[in-house]
This record gives sequence, structure tokens and C-alpha cells, in this order.
Amino acid sequence: MASPFNIVVIVGSIRKESFTLKIANALARLAPASLQLDVVTLHGISFFNQDLEANPPADWLAFREKIQKSAGVLFVTPEYNRSIPGVLKNAIDVASRPYGKSSFLGKPIGIVSNSPGPLGGVNAAKHLQNILPGISGPILGQPEIYLNGVGDAFDDKAQLTKESLQKVLAQYIDAFAAFIERQNR
Ligand code: FNR
Repeated sequence: MASPFNIVVIVGSIRKESFTLKIANALARLAPASLQLDVVTLHGISFFNQDLEANPPADWLAFREKIQKSAGVLFVTPEYNRSIPGVLKNAIDVASRPYGKSSFLGKPIGIVSNSPGPLGGVNAAKHLQNILPGISGPILGQPEIYLNGVGDAFDDKAQLTKESLQKVLAQYIDAFAAFIERQNR
């Protein structure tokens, strides 16, 4: 069998007990054999500052390289104030540079938003759909996935216990795998 496609999963929350991180890990477990998901948190990514561009910090270079070497990127994000969290926007700014050389260029993209609330972080997902097209490859448009009510989906060992959530995550990651195969063919 061909070796699996390496997918960088960017987690939009750095909270220790983050539901977003638990969802990213659940996706990694549910992914078909054609994908290898590398779940990446954003601790330690320095604030973007144009003054540093001539001599970029090592953490920027490592983050950019990880994305450049991937076959695709999957964003899993919560919603903060009807948008994406600042840590995620910062990481996107870091990887989008140098100008014209975004690490996301040509990379197929998936977007999974979530919230313990009723709206599933849909605004965060929509903001990503606005931000990314100028600096990335194609974004998977169907199926859309905005996960609501995630607050009671995990047990105290971070295992996914909500069957309905497990089902939509499995459907999504299968569709994403098919998209990655089409884009990397
Ligand atoms: C939130 N939260 C939130 N939820 C939502 O559905 N829409 C929103 O606009 C916001 N706004 C918001 C702003 C800020 C600053 C915080 C801290 C939180 C609630 C959010 O969904 C909740 O805290 C999640 O648990 C955050 O995701 P993680 O850390 O569990 O992955």
C-alpha cells in the first residue's frame, strides 16, 4: 500500500482541556489508513512581527516547514467572539509569509469548527473561509461541519463518548481523505 498522506491538523485552542484538541485527536483516531494526522498545537509560536521577517525565529521556521512538507492542512477551531481565536490568526499570519510564499500555497484545506454552544462555531469557520483563499490551496466545501454541543461529548479520559459526534467526524474525515487523494493525484 502507498504510504499515507501526512496531514497537519492545526488546533485553534491552547487550553489544556480544550474540546477542540479532543476533537482533533478523535479525528486522528478515526482517520482512514490513507491519512496520517499530525495534531499540532500552537503553544510557543511567537507573535508575528514584520520586524522579525529578515531573521525569523526558529519556531516560525519549524511551523512553516511542517506545513510545507504536508499533503494538506486540517483546521480544527473553536469560535472566539464570532471569529477565530487570536492564537490561530497569529499562526496563519506566520505561515502566510514571506509575501507570496505562504506555506499553505497549494495545500488542500479542511475546516472543522466547534462550540459547546448551539451554533457550532460557524462564524469561525466562515472567517477561515474568508482568510485562506489568497494564501492556500482549495478548501473542501462539502460536507460542511460545525459541531455544536461538544461540552458533554468526552469522558474524563478525553475519549469521545457521544455517538452522534463520532458519526459525523467519521463521515467528515472520510470525505476529507477522498478530497486529499483527488488533490494529490
Ligand atoms: C468564547 N466562546 C464562544 N463560543 C461560541 O460559540 N461563540 C463565540 O463567539 C464565543 N466567544 C468566546 C470568546 C472567548 C474569549 C472565550 C474564552 C470563549 C466559548 C468557547 O466556545 C468555549 O470556551 C470553548 O470551550 C473554547 O474551545 P476549547 O478551548 O474548549 O477548544
